[in-house]
Amino acid sequence: MNAPMNSLGNAQYRHIATHRIAGSLGAEVSGVDLSQDLPDAVLAEVRAALLAHQVIAFRDQTITPDQQLTFARRWGEIHLHPFMKGMPSHPEILAIIKRPTDKKNFGGSWHTDQMFSPNPAMGTMLYALEVPEAGGDTLFTNQYLAYESLSDGMKAMADTLRTVCVGDNFKQMDGRSRVDRYAGQMSEMTVKDPGNVQTTSIHPLVRTHPETGRKALYVGNHVQRFDGFTDAESEPLLNFFMQHSTRPEFTMRFRWQKGTLLLWDNRCVQHFAINDYDGDTRVMHRITICGDKPF
Ligand code: SIN
Repeated sequence: MNAPMNSLGNAQYRHIATHRIAGSLGAEVSGVDLSQDLPDAVLAEVRAALLAHQVIAFRDQTITPDQQLTFARRWGEIHLHPFMKGMPSHPEILAIIKRPTDKKNFGGSWHTDQMFSPNPAMGTMLYALEVPEAGGDTLFTNQYLAYESLSDGMKAMADTLRTVCVGDNFKQMDGRSRVDRYAGQMSEMTVKDPGNVQTTSIHPLVRTHPETGRKALYVGNHVQRFDGFTDAESEPLLNFFMQHSTRPEFTMRFRWQKGTLLLWDNRCVQHFAINDYDGDTRVMHRITICGDKPF
């Protein structure tokens, strides 16, 4: 249940306050100290804020990996990345690190997390430990708006399409696996073989959010083609959906500060980590929370 809105579109809560970041999505949440175990009533408002704004930011937090994990577990089971090794001390946390000599960044394309899994991640939580002086922002795009702004004809067709989502999507491009492609590119991140974890899945192009009941486009760089279509047939249609779903008016650009924790809802947003800070350092702790099978 969403809290009532004031004239600025910010909801009136009892325990927290929200301030919208962009016209399309995103809000900063104040009144919460994530180093403490949150009372249920506070967590219920934070959940309402996430459902209302899709991406929520908590500024000026000082938390340990254990405290981040405690907060994450309030949302559900922790999802382990099939391709990336977690921190030795906390395997559930992926340290996203780019050092001055690294050229590649992690997450530098439009995507939604673990779309290749049969039950993709419901949410992702990123905590900023070190940020570049400038750059390293993350872009988000609202996939409810992307769906709702389609014509009736395109909506009717989109409703029937299913996507083939592939985790090791680079392999199809040039024959190299993720392990080969990332080798030596991100000095402090380790790619692993997923073993027998399922990393190819078929999902509806339009999914219904299990909590809000709204329809959203569900597309991103893990989509290889449409189910039942050839690559050549899929390409123009996929290009259209990728371009449409990332139109500027659906997006928000998030500027990080050290101590910010961001939580986003992968069921209705795509994101893109901008790689524009060569020679600088960016360090994040990321936890993903398990989700449901899209329908
Ligand atoms: C990701 O794709 O999860 C990384 C996002 C970021 O580092 O901003």
